[in-house]
Amino acid sequence: MNAVAVKKDLFWIGSVNFGCLDFHGYSLAPRGTTYNCYVLKDQKNVLFDTVQAPHTEEMLTRLKQVIEPEKIDYIVANHLEPDHAGVLPELVKICRPEKIFCSVMGEKSMRGYFNTEGWPVQTVKTGDVVNTGAHNIHFVETRMLHWPDSMFSYIPEERLVISNDAFGQNIASSERFADELNRAALIHGIEEYYYNIVLPFSPQVLKTLDMIAGLKLDIEMIAPDHGLIFRNKDDVDFILKKYRELAEQKPGKKALICYDTMWHSTEKLAYHVGCGLEEAGVPYRIMPLKNHHHSEIMTELAGCGAVVAGSPTHNNGIMPAVSAVLTYMKGLRPQNRIGGAFGSFGWSGEAVKVITEYLEAMRMEIPGQAVKCAYRPAPGDLEAAAALGRTIGKALTAKCEDLRHP
Ligand SMILES: Cc1cc2nc3c(=O)[nH]c(=O)nc-3n(C[C@H](O)[C@H](O)[C@H](O)COP(=O)(O)O)c2cc1C
Ligand SMILES: [Fe+2]
Ligand SMILES: [Fe+2]
Repeated sequence: MNAVAVKKDLFWIGSVNFGCLDFHGYSLAPRGTTYNCYVLKDQKNVLFDTVQAPHTEEMLTRLKQVIEPEKIDYIVANHLEPDHAGVLPELVKICRPEKIFCSVMGEKSMRGYFNTEGWPVQTVKTGDVVNTGAHNIHFVETRMLHWPDSMFSYIPEERLVISNDAFGQNIASSERFADELNRAALIHGIEEYYYNIVLPFSPQVLKTLDMIAGLKLDIEMIAPDHGLIFRNKDDVDFILKKYRELAEQKPGKKALICYDTMWHSTEKLAYHVGCGLEEAGVPYRIMPLKNHHHSEIMTELAGCGAVVAGSPTHNNGIMPAVSAVLTYMKGLRPQNRIGGAFGSFGWSGEAVKVITEYLEAMRMEIPGQAVKCAYRPAPGDLEAAAALGRTIGKALTAKCEDLRHP
């Protein structure tokens, strides 16, 4: 794969990792990922971001297709996480840039990761502009979207925003542009990325979207540092609208049931919760945690306004997979959800209480009675599970209606 001209003077020189399954050590990227970085050719030649260190050769090969590396004058580091700054030390050595631009917090993380002695670092803040000849780079800090150092680079002459992690997707593909990919696959990639990485920073997303609207930036292209590039006005509008929708977290009329089980009693309850939801007219998906990684659960949550979690009582607590998924979910701070708990037990039965505490910590509404059954569920227990499903289904339907007709 070669460097790709994204605009007349702007080139993609990133790397594509079809084999990356584990993204950053905590999330799955079943379709691999890309690390995008870009070169702007002008009187001053600029490199925006780099890639993860193991992909150094790949990036350098593409860089050399576009320009001799020594001719890079400026490096912009929009974010210092190692997937974007991994090749920085190597490039500083090779390019000997005149300047390296990053935010104030970026300088801190840069010094935390690398020996920056002698590096020509210049910190920038929102409103600062750097002229490169025919172009001006406007810096826009996007603190905590998703690190304190994160920022965007806006080039009005190209109507282009290089947005770093925001608007990204974990998709490895030969295609570089969003309009070249199947739309359903693209949307799945956007939601997967948002729900596993960006979700806790939804308030910052809304602030950033308002800021973009307020500044009346003329944007015809958004180029993130992962995945496909949005290269026309329709796709720019599409991704901005999609991000607002994701950040607002209006509940979807669908429920997610996740559980683990040892001897299948909790599983039986899960299926009966599903029956109750069905009776209430709410679609659902049952996700056994032996089959699904916690990042798949989060991706599914994008469309679900309710989470019903089940676990047998295991050593006075819950099963490790349930604990893992609830811990992960809680950290990602989903909003506006309805929750429910169920589980089988033998003698002490703490599981539903532990699950409920997680749901409460996520400030979920809990309209139904948690279902707890001793050993094997009796008919009454199965009916209680169905009743829980019905109650959650009705509450979710009402919540969705209220939002439609406030
Ligand atoms: C290793 C192990 C530890 C358990 N610890 C507890 C416990 O601390 N308290 C309790 O009430 N039941 C405990 N149980 C009993 C299970 O909760 C009970 O068998 C339950 O019906 C299993 O539900 P399941 O069929 O969904 O796996 C334990 C079972 C096993 C195998
Ligand atoms: Fe990042
Ligand atoms: Fe990233």
